[in-house]
Amino acid sequence: MAAPTIRADQTSVFPRFLDLAYPNIERGHGVWLETIAGERILDATSGGAMVACLGHGVPEIIDAAARQAEQVAYFYNHHFTSEPQEELADRIIEVVAPEMARVKVASGGSEANESAVRLARAYHVDRGRPERWRIISPAQAYHGSTLGTLALSGRRRSLQDPYVEYMPGYLHIPPSTSRLDPTGEQALKELDRVLKEAGPDTVSAFFCEPVSAAAMPAYSPPDRFWEGLAERREKHGFLVCFDEIVTGVGRVGSWLAAHQLPIEPDIVTIGKGIGAGYWPLAAVLCREHVYVALAEGSAEFDLGHTWDGAPLPCAVGVAVLNYIVRHQLVDRVRDRGPELLAQLKAATKGIDIVGEVRGRGFLLGVSLVDPRDGKAFLPDELDAATLVDDIGFEHGLLVSSTHSTPDGYAGDEVLLAPAFTSTDDELNEMIERFADTMLAVEKAVRAKL
Ligand SMILES: Cc1ncc(COP(=O)(O)O)c(C=O)c1O
Repeated sequence: MAAPTIRADQTSVFPRFLDLAYPNIERGHGVWLETIAGERILDATSGGAMVACLGHGVPEIIDAAARQAEQVAYFYNHHFTSEPQEELADRIIEVVAPEMARVKVASGGSEANESAVRLARAYHVDRGRPERWRIISPAQAYHGSTLGTLALSGRRRSLQDPYVEYMPGYLHIPPSTSRLDPTGEQALKELDRVLKEAGPDTVSAFFCEPVSAAAMPAYSPPDRFWEGLAERREKHGFLVCFDEIVTGVGRVGSWLAAHQLPIEPDIVTIGKGIGAGYWPLAAVLCREHVYVALAEGSAEFDLGHTWDGAPLPCAVGVAVLNYIVRHQLVDRVRDRGPELLAQLKAATKGIDIVGEVRGRGFLLGVSLVDPRDGKAFLPDELDAATLVDDIGFEHGLLVSSTHSTPDGYAGDEVLLAPAFTSTDDELNEMIERFADTMLAVEKAVRAKL
C-alpha cells in the first residue's frame, strides 16, 4: 500500500519543504480531505490556498469539465476564441464586476498579476507617457511567486531573499495596519513621500490587495487610506490595481472586495475561487478607459501564457460562476460571515497567544502574539506559524499560517477560509477544532519561550 505520509527521501518529487512528511491525500468530498490511510482532515482553508470555495468533488463542475474536454479541451487563444471564453468574460462582467469593461483570462494569480503590471504599463505607453513605469505597493503584501510579482512585495527577509537581485526596483510603503498606522494617515504620508521622491510622473500604478489574505488575513486599511489613495490617483494620474486573487468571486461576502471600499480600482485580478480548484484559472479585469487607451493606441496587448483562455478552463469558470449564482453563495457568505467571526472570537477568548481576530465574509484571520505580554510578535526563530499548521493536522484540521515576523510589519498570522458551501455544523466543527489547536499551540509555545 502507498505510504500515508511521504518524506523527501522517499520520493522523486521535489517537495516544497525538504524536511517535512507530507500526508498523502487520496480523495476529497465537501470540506473533508481523506488520506490514503483513511484519516479525515477538516479543510478550513478551501484546500489550503483559499481555492476550493465550493468544496471538493462537486458533480456539476466535474461534469462541465468532462463535457468540455470531450468537445475540445485546448487550443491557443492566440489563434481562436470559443464559446466558453466568450461566456466566461460576459458572465464575469455581468455578475462579478459590472463596473469593469474587459476580461483577460489567465491561468494563475502570479500570471494575472504580472499581466496587470504590464497592462498598466501598456496603458501609459499607449497614451504617450513612456516615463511611467514604477509601481508602488504596501510592503507586507504577497502577490505571487514569480520574480516580477515577488518584487511587488516588500517582504525582503521572509520572501525575496536571496532572489532580490533579479527583481525590478518597485517602491514600497509601510502597511497601514492596526498596529502600525490605525488611521491610515501615516501610510498616506509615506505614499506622498515616495511619490515625491520617485517623481509622480514616473509612477504607473499603485498595486495592493483591498483586503489582505495570507499576509494579514481579512485586514483592510481604514476608509481614509482608500479615499486618500483615490485623491492622489486623481491628482497624479497613476492607476490603481487591486489584487483580488483571493478576495474576488465572493470570498469576503461581495463579488469583489472593492465593492466594500470607497474607491474603484482601474484594474482587478481575480483567481483561486473562479476555478474553485477544478482547473487553474485567473483573470485580469479592467475598466473601459484602460481598454480604450490600448484600443486607440497600439491596438494590441500581446502577452499570453499557453493556457490563457483555453476552452476547458473557461468552461470550468462558467460552471463555477453559475453554481455560485444558483446557490446564492455570495449572500450566504455575506450573511453567515459576521456570526462566524463572532464564533471565532468567542472560541479563542482567553487564549493568550491569540491577538487580533479579524474577519470579512469567509476570510478570517488571527494574529499570534507573545502570550507573556499579549502584544509583542513571537520570536522569529520559534516559527509559530509552522507550529500552528502542524498542531492543526494533529487535530484533524487544515488551516494556513504565514510567518512574516522577520520583516516587522506583521507577526505570525493564521488564516481560515472555509468553502462557501460549508454547512453550519461544519463551520462549528472548524471553530471548535481551531480553538483546541490554539490552546495546544499556546502550550507548546510557552514551553519553548
Ligand atoms: C493575494 C494573492 N495574490 C497572488 C497570489 C499568487 O497566486 P498563484 O499562486 O496562483 O500564482 C496569491 C497566492 O496565494 C495570493 O494570495
